[in-house]
Amino acid sequence: MRQTLVVGNWKMHGSRASVAALLGEVVGSLPAGAAETAVCPSYVHLAQALELCEGSAVAVGAQDCSHMQSGAYTGEVSAQMLVDMGCRWVILGHSERRQYHSESDNLVAAKLGAAIEAGLRPIVCVGETREQRESGEEEIVVARQLRGALDGQISLAGLVVAYEPVWAIGTGLTASPEQAQAMHAFIRKCLVDVNGIDADATRVLYGGSVKADNAAELFAQQDIDGALVGGAALKAGDFLAIVGAGHG
Ligand code: PGA
Repeated sequence: MRQTLVVGNWKMHGSRASVAALLGEVVGSLPAGAAETAVCPSYVHLAQALELCEGSAVAVGAQDCSHMQSGAYTGEVSAQMLVDMGCRWVILGHSERRQYHSESDNLVAAKLGAAIEAGLRPIVCVGETREQRESGEEEIVVARQLRGALDGQISLAGLVVAYEPVWAIGTGLTASPEQAQAMHAFIRKCLVDVNGIDADATRVLYGGSVKADNAAELFAQQDIDGALVGGAALKAGDFLAIVGAGHG
């Protein structure tokens, strides 16, 4: 049985005060037997988050990393630096990176390679836009993003995939549990064809307007193994309820 994983993607939100308040509550009230839990604050809040989560069941990750190991790359943060800080997870290929920073499948693949080499646990995001779904291309798009990122990697043990339909992110529109399940089953079928992956053991998270009141229904689907949570991860009560809807 795959353990549920709930990851909070804080995006570009937060201050020292809000990070302290949010993590104080999350760490202090994590329900027993709940989902495996991680939070991904901005780079500048990682050190504070790591300190606040130390010794707890809440892991910390980053929202991105460089595809380079080190060098003259102003503004970049390497996977190795994140490991050195104590980060366990990294989100890669989020649709906002693809959309606003022109990240291609090739770049996501290079970042994934760097993350794997450094020992970070990657969460690779895939998902179609509204136009792509309306024209019936969603499976073609997701399959291309998966192959583009995963083919040729040296090791994919522990990989997590997040299916995030772009039309459901931050919009309040959630894919129905049946829509999400259908795509998750398709993703698992694609994973079978990727070398070095145990498709059955690989967790596939859903992301896109996951809330306290829809998490349980999503998690009840056979191929939905948790959630990548944006807006609702910024409210301790909502995030804890989503974590509590999963199983350890
Ligand atoms: P949302 O964001 O939960 O606010 O829709 C999810 C994500 O972008 O990871």
